[in-house]
Amino acid sequence: MPSGLTRRRLLAASAIIGHSELTLAGQPSRSTDDSLSQIAAGAGRFFGSAVRIEDIVREDDLRGTVLRECAWLTPEIALKWDAIERSPGSFQFGPMDSLLAFAAAQGMRLHGHTLLWHGGIPAWAESALVTQKNWGLIQRYFEAVLGRYRSTITQWDVINEPIETGYRMDGLRGSVFLQAFGPDYIPRALNEARRLAPGAELIINEFALETEDRVENDRRYLFLKLLERLKRAGVPLDGVGLQAHLDLSKGQFRADIYAQFLRNIADLGLFIVITELDVKEHDYIQSVEQRDRQVADATARYLDVALAQSAVRGVTTWGLSDRHSWLQVTPADLARYPGGWRDGSSPGVNRGLPFDTAMRRKPMYHTIANALHHRA
Ligand code: XIL
Repeated sequence: MPSGLTRRRLLAASAIIGHSELTLAGQPSRSTDDSLSQIAAGAGRFFGSAVRIEDIVREDDLRGTVLRECAWLTPEIALKWDAIERSPGSFQFGPMDSLLAFAAAQGMRLHGHTLLWHGGIPAWAESALVTQKNWGLIQRYFEAVLGRYRSTITQWDVINEPIETGYRMDGLRGSVFLQAFGPDYIPRALNEARRLAPGAELIINEFALETEDRVENDRRYLFLKLLERLKRAGVPLDGVGLQAHLDLSKGQFRADIYAQFLRNIADLGLFIVITELDVKEHDYIQSVEQRDRQVADATARYLDVALAQSAVRGVTTWGLSDRHSWLQVTPADLARYPGGWRDGSSPGVNRGLPFDTAMRRKPMYHTIANALHHRA
């Protein structure tokens, strides 16, 4: 059974988000030998997941799995600018405070995701930034968020997804941040974060760096160049987040090339975290066993290389169970198989996370466990 503190905090969390029936019966304790975070800890690393506090409060089986498997949690939504400051200067901290209370009561760490992301800007700020070019808007938001959480969340994705190829020589995405402030928005944001949260580890988090193809080769190169420029200029940057949204429709993963990429990051004195691991499937027409095998194999190929690099501190998956994945089977996926599922069956959901929708461990779980066993 959880402690009274845990129970109280959970009840407080459920009250905040308006859910009153919370059962804690049969709650597993957090330290189990047989869990990903135990295995990771044995090798000096961590395992965690992105979560939403509403799901944790509502679903006993999810909550039990989170408590058993995770040492770190990432708020999937609650810390993004468009969730926090829906109208100018008015901040909504409820869901993040609830998640924080849950994590604190369980001794779990939180990954601060994310401060500047082109995909998570409130609409009012998007237009205000472009028209006014007013850094004060960013400063007010940073002050509110870092001011509130700097002592409890000590690792932040300050910049999320800054790279986009095909537009500029430096490979920076033409986000509203770039439009409003030029490339300097990155050092400026990192300096601002260091000033407001001097004890925190500051990270740049990026996606689509795994595959051996023209676009992702360029993305790796441009990402490294960005990191080099920032380090050379003495900008406060401590680590790198590699999202690792693996995608079975994409090309080859080359172990030697990826290992070199990780070495290059580590050589800059940066630590690395795998921040958003999951797998988008491609061949939905196959049997569930084949599908799960492919997901697990892609995970193994990736993690075996990633976890051979000692600068990699740990792995977070973007959700634990296929029940909650942001990855969907799309109409385009179904259209690849004209006449498929004619018998009225369906491919179900994307199966790119370690637990299925009934919260049973899948082959991906076991490949993560195996990979985490090995000390770099
Ligand atoms: C996604 C969430 O999972 C979705 O629920 C939300 O609608 C959009 O954002 N890269 C990131 C994450 O850094 O913040 C994104 O999360 C997934 C891609």
